[in-house]
This record gives sequence, C-alpha cells and structure tokens, in this order.
Amino acid sequence: MTLVIVVGTQWGDEGKGRIVDLLAAQADVVARYNGGDNAGHTVTVGSQTFKLHLLPAGMIHPHTFGVLGNGMVVNPVSLLKEMEMLRAYGIVVDPERLMISYAAHLITPGHKALDAAQERARGAGQIGTTGRGIGPAYTDKAARRGLRLQDMLDPAAFREKMRAHIREANVQLHTFYRAEPLEIEANAAEFEGYAVELKPYIGDPGAKISEALAAGRSVLAEGAQGTLLDLDHGTYPFVTSSNPTAPGALTGLGLGMQAQAARVVGVTKSFQTRVGAGPFPTEVHDQAAERLRGTGANPWDEFGTTTGRPRRVGWLDGVLLRYAVRINGLTELVVTKLDVLSGLATIPICTAYRSQGRQLRDLPLGPSDLSPFEPICEELPGWQEDLTGARTWADLPVNARGYLEKIAEISGVKVSLVSVGPERDQIVKCEA
Ligand code: IMP
Repeated sequence: MTLVIVVGTQWGDEGKGRIVDLLAAQADVVARYNGGDNAGHTVTVGSQTFKLHLLPAGMIHPHTFGVLGNGMVVNPVSLLKEMEMLRAYGIVVDPERLMISYAAHLITPGHKALDAAQERARGAGQIGTTGRGIGPAYTDKAARRGLRLQDMLDPAAFREKMRAHIREANVQLHTFYRAEPLEIEANAAEFEGYAVELKPYIGDPGAKISEALAAGRSVLAEGAQGTLLDLDHGTYPFVTSSNPTAPGALTGLGLGMQAQAARVVGVTKSFQTRVGAGPFPTEVHDQAAERLRGTGANPWDEFGTTTGRPRRVGWLDGVLLRYAVRINGLTELVVTKLDVLSGLATIPICTAYRSQGRQLRDLPLGPSDLSPFEPICEELPGWQEDLTGARTWADLPVNARGYLEKIAEISGVKVSLVSVGPERDQIVKCEA
C-alpha cells in the first residue's frame, strides 16, 4: 500500500498543482483533504492551463479517482462550476470518478457574507482572507452547527436547515456587523437544487481509500495552502482555518494510523511568497520584489490564483523550512521555480535568526511571533544560464546545483525534483 502526501512548506502557492499533476501519473486515487476554494492549483498541459480550486489537481489524469475529504469545506456553487469547466475540456467528472465525503462541510452565502463583514470589522488587523467564507464555515463546524454534505441527502429537509442557517447568519450579520441580511427563501431554494445535483457524489472516501490501500493501490493526498498557514502550526492568527500539514491528511480523509505515508513530499518555492497579512522575516520590497514577483504578464508570475492579489515576496527562509520538515515529517523536497532565479548575481538564503545578540537555528516557540527575529542570510553565487531546458542534474549550472545542495543541507532532507518552468516536462530529476 502506498500513500503519498504532498504538502506546501511555506504560505501556500509553492506550485503544488504541477507537482501533484506529475505524481498523479502513478496514482490511482487523488484526494484533497483540507481547505476549500481559497486554494488555487494551476496545472499547465500543452496550451491548456487549468486553475483548480476544489477538485484534486490529479483528476486531470483520466485514470484517477478523485476525492474531496471530510477535512474540506465545499462551496457547491464553485464545485459545480469547476466540474463543468473540466467537462468542457473533455475530462469525465461523474460519480464513477469523484466522491465527496458525507462529513465535509458546506460553505454558504452566509459564510461568505460573514467573512467579508469580519474582515471589515478587523480594520487594521485584517488577516487578508480570500473572502471565500472559509473561516466562518470552519467556525460553524467547530461550533457543531455547520451544514454537512450528508445533510444534502434529503433535499427537502436540507432546505429547512438552510433556512435556519441563513436566519442565524442574518442575526450575526445584523447584531455584530450591521451588515445587510441575506434572502432566506431564495438561498434555501438554490441550495436545495445543489443538493439534488451533488447527491450522487456523496459517500465515505475513508472507507474507499482504506480499501484501495489494502489492495496495494496508490493514493495521492493533496494538501492545499501550506505549513505556515496551518491553524495550529502556522503564523497564527494569520493563518487559514484548516490543517494543511501532512497529519491533516489522515484526519481530513478519515484514515487511521495504519495508512502510513511512504513519501511525504514538501513542495518549496526557491524563494518565499505570501498573500495577505502576517510575519515574513525575509520579505523584500521595491525592485528586488518586482524581480521575484514578475509583472503579472505571465500566468506563473506571483499574483494570487484565487484573488489576483500581488504576492509579497522574499528570500528562502531556512529556519521556517527546517520547521516545516519537522512538523510534516518530510521525506523529500521538491523545489519549484528555480528558473526564476536565473540572472541574479548572488542569491541570499536565510540560514538562522538573530535575537538579542544570540543566533538561533530553530524557533523556540513556533512561528506565530516572528517579530523578535532578524534573518541571517548567506549570499550564494548566482547563475546566468536559462534553466528552462534543463532535465537532469548535469544540465544545471554548478551554482544552481550549489543552491539546491544548500537547501538540502539546511533542511536535512534530499531534494528529489526541481521545477524549471510551468510545463509538465519542465522538471529536473535529482538522481545523484
Ligand atoms: P482564508 O483561508 O481565506 O481564511 O485566508 C486566510 C489566510 O490564508 C490569508 O492570508 C490568505 O491569503 C491565505 N490563503 C488561503 N488560501 C491560500 C492559498 O491557497 N494560497 C496562499 N494563501 C492562501
């Protein structure tokens, strides 16, 4: 049995989509286990670029079976739209190929309105959420008043639950935020319609995945967002409301401890980016930032897939990378976007932090308060060559190899693959 878990080691947007697409060629089941349509996974195949928010990126391979796990929050409007989008590309999306957990929670217009109202109320302390209703949906889950996919199995009863839910959301919107109420009947009727459409897809993926693993099939668990956005282990409170870290794959898919992961693959951008507010010790600004971010002219420039916001950018942070290795139990790293660094004279990489005259290799109390730390960077020599045609370790310039070796040394984990462009084949396999 083979379970492979793919996680982001940073604040999301590490390029997991294209790595998942690559690994999915060998997978039977591809499963998303956390988050919702706040995620944006981009996969480029030839002239087609797929931007997926909810469906597993591995579903682009026609032989795979897709799963949306119980750890997710699902906006049915986005999901049905995305299913249609894939169908328009000739990709089959039907109950023979897709299962949604009965225990996944729904995102409603009530959650989206509350997300917007809560962000407004935070004023200067805004998190910079994606506005998709993620936080309020997980809040309802934890408060044990959420709506689950299971509730959709009886569409008429579900309509009544939706009415009660919107009524409750309206009370909160009015009482705490003086926001406009939502239409109760129209929303309830609309969601009843979605219940009818989604009913055939609702099942128990935990049982299905366990069965697949026992039969020796391979399962690819796709984490959304990244380690530093994890609700428990990230830069709290500037985090998302789910567990993108690797152990979240077990709880988020309904798997027990026997489903040991054979590989836990940490996807790491060759520099660091973040959208929204929160600490970022190696952040750069102005020209240096523009150089890393790009102008937005290319789909791979550093602008949010879900929101279009320009991403904050900075140099690779080895202290946070080591933390991600430990929290996830990473067995290997995949380094993405190395081609973007071509042309720099030197490349800074943070190897330790300084605080009150002391040098620290690791965080004393996790990453939520990074204000006491100043990054200590080593300047590695850059390279001028274009990397987009490299396919083997030997194809890489010696300084690019040196940069990757430094990442492996800092993290204590081997680098197995390196992406050098958005296309499926623009990958360097790092056999020694
Ligand atoms: P939320 O998940 O929409 O509540 O947003 C919480 C924080 O996580 C914000 O800083 C978002 O920008 C960030 N975030 C959520 N999803 C992603 C993602 O897929 N990539 C990068 N950042 C994300």
